[in-house]
Amino acid sequence: MFEPAVATIITAKCSNTACHGGTGSAPTKFAVGTATTMYDNILGYSSRVLGDFDKTTATILSKIAAGNHNATTYTAAEVKSIGDWLDAERTARAAAGTTNTPSARELLLQKWSGCMVKTTEFDAFATAWAQKTTDTNNTACQQCHVNGQGFWANNDPLRSFNVLTTAKNPAGGWFMEMYFTVDMTTDPANPKIIINRDFMTRAALGTAQHEKFQLDTDRNGGTPTAMAKLKTYYDSTMLKVLADKTTPCGPSRLGTTPP
Ligand code: HEC
Repeated sequence: MFEPAVATIITAKCSNTACHGGTGSAPTKFAVGTATTMYDNILGYSSRVLGDFDKTTATILSKIAAGNHNATTYTAAEVKSIGDWLDAERTARAAAGTTNTPSARELLLQKWSGCMVKTTEFDAFATAWAQKTTDTNNTACQQCHVNGQGFWANNDPLRSFNVLTTAKNPAGGWFMEMYFTVDMTTDPANPKIIINRDFMTRAALGTAQHEKFQLDTDRNGGTPTAMAKLKTYYDSTMLKVLADKTTPCGPSRLGTTPP
């Protein structure tokens, strides 16, 4: 069902390299590969794009249904093909006794959530992004992003830690992916957690009329910059991931209720 029908639709409607094909990490690169390799790739986005195989919540359908997604539309037959495929995946998984076998991508995100620790480095990066400001109107990121719509920027580091390590983004995927995502395109055989710089860059450059801002310098004079603090935290978390075999990180927190 996937190869002849769904892959053809995705290739035609989503796979432009400026959109969901090509390289990088944003916009979400779920439409990568040939009809045969695309299947493995898209399963990595099961929570973000496929609604965990629930066609009533899958953003691959809902984003377009609203009618304002980059002038993209599906025919009724295409909507049905995608919905039927999601149903079949769901049924097959239920029959196998598992609602969703995590993909390599999802496993990496899970591992990262278990290795994240709320250190002073975490607090420093989370508050720096809350207080970072735009160029256009000098508005702090938290002014518009305090509740995580589009991006997460909140001055309460405990709240930020809990949300970024556990919470599902109602718009698809995990809040964690706004800062840390998986690079699936540079070396597809070895996916790796990276800072989601591409995602931030889109906003910084003014995509969709976003107020422009500088990614690597802070207008409010913050030193080190918010990006440098994020990199410091990323590096220390990556060390924990790499040491995980000898010094195990905690279990995955994604989808759990914070203590
Ligand atoms: C005046 C309000 C406002 C301010 C200030 C603001 N943003 Fe946004 N931002 C938005 C809106 C609105 C969206 C789109 C939300 C959605 O998709 O639901 C958005 C989306 C984003 C996105 C997602 C881009 C994408 O491609 O989906 C990122 C990343 C982002 N903002 C980062 C920031 C950062 C970093 C700052 C501070 C430097 C900031 N924003 C300041 C309003 C704002």
